[in-house]
Amino acid sequence: MSRETVTITDNRTGKSMECPIIKGTHGPPVINCQSLYKEMGMFTFDPAYVTTASCESRITFIDGEKGILLYRGYPIEQLAENSSYLEVCYLLLNGELPTEEQMKSFQASICQHTMLHEGLLSFYKGFRHDAHPMAMLVGVVGALSGYYSDLKTDIKSHEYRMGSAIRLIAKMPTIAANSYKYLIGQPYVYPQTNLSYVANFMNMMFSVPREPYKFNETAIKALEIMLILHADHEQNASTSTVRLAGSSQAHPYSCIAGGIATLWGPAHGGANEAVIRMLQEIGNVKNIPKYLKKFKDKSDPTRLMGFGHRVYKNYDPRAKIIRKSCHNLLHELDATKEPLFEIALELERIALSDDYFIKRKLYPNVDFYSGMILSALGIPLNMFTVMFAVARSVGWISQWMEMMEEEDLRIGRPRQLYLGAAQRDYVPMDQRT
Ligand code: SDX
Repeated sequence: MSRETVTITDNRTGKSMECPIIKGTHGPPVINCQSLYKEMGMFTFDPAYVTTASCESRITFIDGEKGILLYRGYPIEQLAENSSYLEVCYLLLNGELPTEEQMKSFQASICQHTMLHEGLLSFYKGFRHDAHPMAMLVGVVGALSGYYSDLKTDIKSHEYRMGSAIRLIAKMPTIAANSYKYLIGQPYVYPQTNLSYVANFMNMMFSVPREPYKFNETAIKALEIMLILHADHEQNASTSTVRLAGSSQAHPYSCIAGGIATLWGPAHGGANEAVIRMLQEIGNVKNIPKYLKKFKDKSDPTRLMGFGHRVYKNYDPRAKIIRKSCHNLLHELDATKEPLFEIALELERIALSDDYFIKRKLYPNVDFYSGMILSALGIPLNMFTVMFAVARSVGWISQWMEMMEEEDLRIGRPRQLYLGAAQRDYVPMDQRT
């Protein structure tokens, strides 16, 4: 079959080369320009990787124009409707939905690893009581790498990699809940093996000695959906950090700690917390026009948090699901008059009819409503991005595993366009003017 190619010609010299076009299952084809520098003596230039495919992957597919999100080929709407977070973890890690048998054994493995080594608990004590819990997550997950076997021998084994993935998925809720308990000065609640993944998390977060936690099934379902929607998202900033760190064959948990650090930024996973702070600052629907003016003012760096997305130039499919789940939860909790929710609905309505946002295809993303659900669940604001990190851990470690299984794994090492000083000689201090 004739290879489909793109011709790149340097019009200064007439020199040209053929770059193969590679087509995927879905999505735009790619131009394989790996030999560009060797053939043409030039680099491609794509700051922020707006138009760069950094790897091959079989895990998640996003169509930004059509608002499609697939995990291993399954539409996110169907998984949010029918699946559990742990079943989605199995799917992302293994590529197929589990049989009943496989699910039981996976669930048992997760249950077995929810506890932390007691030595890890002392890491929390090193943080001030007003530290952001994301700082603790970066620290404690990074410290996990000191508790597991040396990677030099194990990283090549699928069994070791899968074991690292199961331990991470199992321990993240415990690490997250402990950071919350440390901040409020309450005793840690140990994981229970007789509770579901989400119920166990809620119990570790909210139960206190002598007062058993009262479970609310609607709240648990809403959190389950939240975790499913945030589980993976192709090559976003934090996943790309995990992949780049992993390409040096670093310990998986130190790579995940890098992913957590990246997710913390308000332009990325920190947006769910920033959305609520923005709604609190707006304070009243009457103030919305004034704030929208501010968000559109180029001289003002503040943006409408929870709006816009590098890939979705249409509605983020997760935002649609989460908006509905948010409505249901607030109805169930009789909190539809929740002022922040009213402001959010009105802000969305106005923004979606505003030329500035329409022209730039800026729609609500997953973070616009997720904060509402988390606050309705009683999860404190500074724990919102922690929840995102708990959910995304399976995405990060699945992408890390996929990369580690590549035949010719090479360290990621981008180049640059150098605009600094031209080469020059050293001038002794006493001759400088
Ligand atoms: C997540 O990548 C992922 O998949 C991430 C994520 C995941 O699951 O991993 O989906 C999770 O991070 C969701 C995004 C959460 N972040 C926010 O909600 C923060 C607010 N959004 C913006 O910061 C922004 O939209 C980004 C960061 C999300 C996307 O930035 P881009 O693609 O670099 O967009 P851009 O800066 O090129 O914007 C294009 C134009 C610019 O105006 P012009 O220069 O063309 O005049 O749109 C404007 C921007 O100023 N713009 C906004 C805006 N987002 C973009 N203007 C006001 N408010 C906004 N939110």
